[in-house]
Amino acid sequence: MKVLIVGSGGREHAIAASVAKSPQVDKIYCAPGNAGIGQIAECVPIGAMEFGKLVAFAREKAVDLTIVGMDDPLVGGLVDEMEAAGLRVFGPRKNAAILEGSKAFSKDLMKKYNIPTASYENFDDPEKALAYLETSKMPVVLKADGLALGKGVLICQTLEEAKEGVRTIMEEKKFGEAGSRMVVEEFMTGREVSVLSFVDGKTIQIMSSAQDHKRAMDGDTGLNTGGMGTFSPSPFYTDEVDAFCRKYIYQATVDAMAAEGRPFKGVIFFGLMLTEDGPRVLEYNARFGDPEAQVVLPRMKNDIIDVVNACIDGTLDRIDLVFEDNAAVCVVLASEGYPVSYEKGFLIDGLENFDGKEGYYCFHAGTKRTQEGIVTNGGRVLGVTAKGQDLKEARANAYRATEWVSFANKYMRNDIGKAIDEA
Ligand code: AMP
Ligand code: GLY
Repeated sequence: MKVLIVGSGGREHAIAASVAKSPQVDKIYCAPGNAGIGQIAECVPIGAMEFGKLVAFAREKAVDLTIVGMDDPLVGGLVDEMEAAGLRVFGPRKNAAILEGSKAFSKDLMKKYNIPTASYENFDDPEKALAYLETSKMPVVLKADGLALGKGVLICQTLEEAKEGVRTIMEEKKFGEAGSRMVVEEFMTGREVSVLSFVDGKTIQIMSSAQDHKRAMDGDTGLNTGGMGTFSPSPFYTDEVDAFCRKYIYQATVDAMAAEGRPFKGVIFFGLMLTEDGPRVLEYNARFGDPEAQVVLPRMKNDIIDVVNACIDGTLDRIDLVFEDNAAVCVVLASEGYPVSYEKGFLIDGLENFDGKEGYYCFHAGTKRTQEGIVTNGGRVLGVTAKGQDLKEARANAYRATEWVSFANKYMRNDIGKAIDEA
């Protein structure tokens, strides 16, 4: 069969690598892809938001299955357009992708169905938000309603900061139209865990847990990024936590979406905070995490095509989702200066060192093929991933492998997975 993957990051490279392992697949296309994806798929120069062109391409090439990796096209309704054209596609429709597309929607959903989350209020009037802040406990969390590349969240320590934040989000529109509405939320403390799941509209199957490192610098300092590294599984995701989430969060979310007439098919990513009072939902995403996919998918034993088909057909209850009894760590190699400003176009040396190395992966995020070779083309450049028998071994392997590649402004965190020492 022929598969089309939509997206161009490390997540899409990890998806493509899983798809490439399936004996059912003989051709992979990726739109638009990157230099690494281009080694296992044919990249086509169509942007993820060019819905008309994607539909035309999938028809022309008789693509059997499209997998949408990115949030923007999902929230924008690519799945609906492909389905309307009679194409088979994996991902939530627009009316379900709103679970990620609107934080106000997801908060209201959780409240209505008693799914544990931080207390909050939604606002579309900055004056009302400012008045509400006068009565709020600090620190407080402000969130732009819409998609903002993971950057539309402000944690404010003082009332002054919070007021400034409301102006930044709702009046100056720093995050664009995403800030026309805003959520003001209670600040929670605890460890964060990412749990990805497959959903077929009614059944949910949980993947192995992971933890991201969102801040740019060691010790969780610096600005928020798309994610600087991950490990899987999370030792903090205990059986007790799992039991709680299964009872109060996972199926409850799937049932709530169905009850709202928005059946969810695809991947739900639960961003959880393990608070003293138990797990709480921080956020939902309607897709695989990036770089969570890079540590979770390589450990999945199932043929991803079987699982994806079961989600589309509503037969996920017949799938036995199985993960390897090991661990994986992904260290992101970024361009120095990310996430603010950085140079690109530097030649990357040593990519061939990963060839034939079992259990090691070099997932490309921001790379481009030129006549001189593969060059850096983004803030996050590569996701160096390694497996190990346990997290410590995986971490040592991943950091060793980060030495195999070099480019002029290579930057990484040196403490990815350090938290596991405390587990
Ligand atoms: P989100 O995009 O909603 O996941 O928020 C981005 C990051 O902000 C999260 O990963 C948390 O680190 C932090 N965050 C979001 N909401 C809260 C909250 N209510 N309390 C504490 N931290 C939060
Ligand atoms: N790594 C966080 C995300 O994909 O949103």
